[in-house]
Amino acid sequence: MSNQAKDWVFSDPRLKKMRQDYAAYTEEDFKVWKILFERQMPNLPKAASKAYLEGVKTVKFTADRIANFEELNEILLKTTGWAVQVVPGLIDDDLFFGLMNNKRFPSSTWLRKMEQLDYLEEPDMFHDAFAHMPLLTNQHYVDFLEKLSGIALKHIQDPWAIQLLSRIYWFTIEFGLIREEGELRVYGAGILSSAGETKFSLSEEPKHFPYDVRHIMSTEYWKDRFQDKYWVIDSYEQLFNSLPEIEEVLEEMLSAKEAKS
Ligand SMILES: [Fe+2]
Repeated sequence: MSNQAKDWVFSDPRLKKMRQDYAAYTEEDFKVWKILFERQMPNLPKAASKAYLEGVKTVKFTADRIANFEELNEILLKTTGWAVQVVPGLIDDDLFFGLMNNKRFPSSTWLRKMEQLDYLEEPDMFHDAFAHMPLLTNQHYVDFLEKLSGIALKHIQDPWAIQLLSRIYWFTIEFGLIREEGELRVYGAGILSSAGETKFSLSEEPKHFPYDVRHIMSTEYWKDRFQDKYWVIDSYEQLFNSLPEIEEVLEEMLSAKEAKS
């Protein structure tokens, strides 16, 4: 990525120099973080990927303190060179991929209310921080994110291409499973922030497929209920090594669509 791209992302007016205002968190916010943390954490030693569990220790998340992005960034920058960038909720694709292509993970800073513990229309910081940040300590994982975002930026004007790449993001970063020492484990953040889907995704009920770029890119996903299919990687390196294939299959699917129209 050229310096020009860097300047473009970090001076983007949509970011409005946003920061986490830690002093503004209320007692209810701390309570919500604690309840969600204590509800989900005990499930994870047997369910989450080792890289995630190690990551939780590295970033020092605890039930009693809402994640503090300043402290977190110090740790992440030292570990993988990544950092968290505060964004105003859901953001446009170009900014989303632009940030990640520059090693910045977009995150909201607001927490759901007590009456929304189980249902949310858009991700809050419990999802963005608790579920995503620990894995930002894993080098293969972040390298994959950075390069996948680079591919997306090349095609940012083409909604079909972005949709195909979003399927990869969705079924890996958000809803991916990994096999570790013969056991199925969760690394997808969409699963990790849901106690219900953690249990469901590892059960016999949904289908589990070996990681397959072409299969994923041909599969639609939904946002309003549990997935019924999950793809299982063998390692984070496998994700990174699949990038050339992602580009290849993308080009193929784009030209197939062009030939049809
Ligand atoms: Fe997410």
